[in-house]
Amino acid sequence: RLQTHKITTGSRNLDDLLGGGIETKTITEFFGEFGSGKTQICHQVAVNVQLPIEKGGLSTPDKMAKAVYIDTEGTFRWERIEAMSKRWGLDPDEVMSNILYIRAINSDHQMAIVDELFNIVPKENIKLVIVDSVTGHFRAEYPGRENLAARQQKLNRHLHQLSRLAEIYDVAVIITNQVMAKPDVFYGDPTQAVGGHVLYHAPGVRVQLRKSRGNKRIARIVDAPHLPEGEAVFMITDYGIAD
Ligand code: GTP
Ligand code: MG
Repeated sequence: RLQTHKITTGSRNLDDLLGGGIETKTITEFFGEFGSGKTQICHQVAVNVQLPIEKGGLSTPDKMAKAVYIDTEGTFRWERIEAMSKRWGLDPDEVMSNILYIRAINSDHQMAIVDELFNIVPKENIKLVIVDSVTGHFRAEYPGRENLAARQQKLNRHLHQLSRLAEIYDVAVIITNQVMAKPDVFYGDPTQAVGGHVLYHAPGVRVQLRKSRGNKRIARIVDAPHLPEGEAVFMITDYGIAD
């Protein structure tokens, strides 16, 4: 892993927890229950990657950094991108034009899109690929214990695709995974939560999100010996992810 780059999340606390931000050449997984902030983080980082390097993005004076947003649940909102762009004084229309939005209708489509990205990413200056959520279609199409092995195998292929894309093209990949809050199993081994060992072998950084009071959320890194232990508190505001 030679040179990597980092993208700010918009929260200093969360950036610090991540060792500076969302890293290129790797997969960062956000998992947690509904409303824990996974999708809002995805929106914010799709904006932030477009900031100049000195402000936490990956744009250079001659080249804007772009993002791909693969939406499997139909929860993407351009209005949020607009609000989050204005926060940094960026032109929302320009920011929106640098986000390639793709709605994935099933797991085969989701994987075909990533295959196609191997052609698109090197031509455009794409520095971030988001899959929100990575698991939804797989869960729906391969329900129950009896399909677990098949689902797992296919999902592993998908994750492998994504990690190759990240490494080859120096791109940051963010994936999300909805996991029900079940405090009893959460704190022992979060991968044991509903859905089984869904992403157990996924490479990269895994971040657990929990709801706190009001718009506060708590992030914790799971099994990453090279990152600091502990938790980060951040907020979801009208203008995006903040401290
Ligand atoms: P699932 O996809 O259902 O698993 O949830 P998620 O983890 O993706 O949650 P998401 O990122 O959608 O977070 C939803 C939360 O963000 C809501 O509970 C709101 O509190 C907050 N939120 C969404 N939009 C806005 C907004 O425009 N302003 C503010 N202040 N908060 C918002
Ligand atoms: Mg979501």
